[in-house]
Amino acid sequence: MILVTGGAGYIGSHTCVELLNKGYDIVVVDDLSNSNAKALERVKLLTGREFPFYGMDVCDQTALDKVCKVHKPTCVIHFAAFKSVPESIAVPTKYYENNDVYHRNFESNGAARHKANCIFVIGNGIRRFQ
Ligand SMILES: NC(=O)c1ccc[n+]([C@@H]2O[C@H](COP(=O)([O-])OP(=O)(O)OC[C@H]3O[C@@H](n4cnc5c(N)ncnc54)[C@H](O)[C@@H]3O)[C@@H](O)[C@H]2O)c1
Repeated sequence: MILVTGGAGYIGSHTCVELLNKGYDIVVVDDLSNSNAKALERVKLLTGREFPFYGMDVCDQTALDKVCKVHKPTCVIHFAAFKSVPESIAVPTKYYENNDVYHRNFESNGAARHKANCIFVIGNGIRRFQ
């Protein structure tokens, strides 16, 4: 089971299509702050596959723990983040809270507790740890 955070977004939704077409099972978490649930309906239409979706903030560690307990992902692909460069300069705390808090929470607690292999996608850099 692969947990795709930000799976309703631009890169996330395309990744979901590829994963489902390759036969992987996925669970999607997205708060829809920069996307629309219709994208996930289109993913289902394109692939003919169903998957669970949780409309929630990935920074909510308690809710994320529940998702991990139920679905036991072995891998997390993390796209849930804000990405506007001008906005990140104008409102840096918004980006710090949304993008960095999740990373630290999940790296220090979530991945260790749930024993998932993680691929973090941050900006245009990719970081992997086990
Ligand atoms: N688009 C590109 O060309 C590109 C290139 C390289 C890297 N990236 C990186 O890949 C990641 C995804 O990019 P994208 O273009 O798909 O962006 P996007 O805005 O289309 O998708 C991000 C998704 O994450 C969701 N999200 C944001 N914060 C969340 C939170 N706290 N909890 C739950 N969901 C949340 C949004 O609703 C959105 O659906 C970003 O980190 C971006 O910097 C993008």
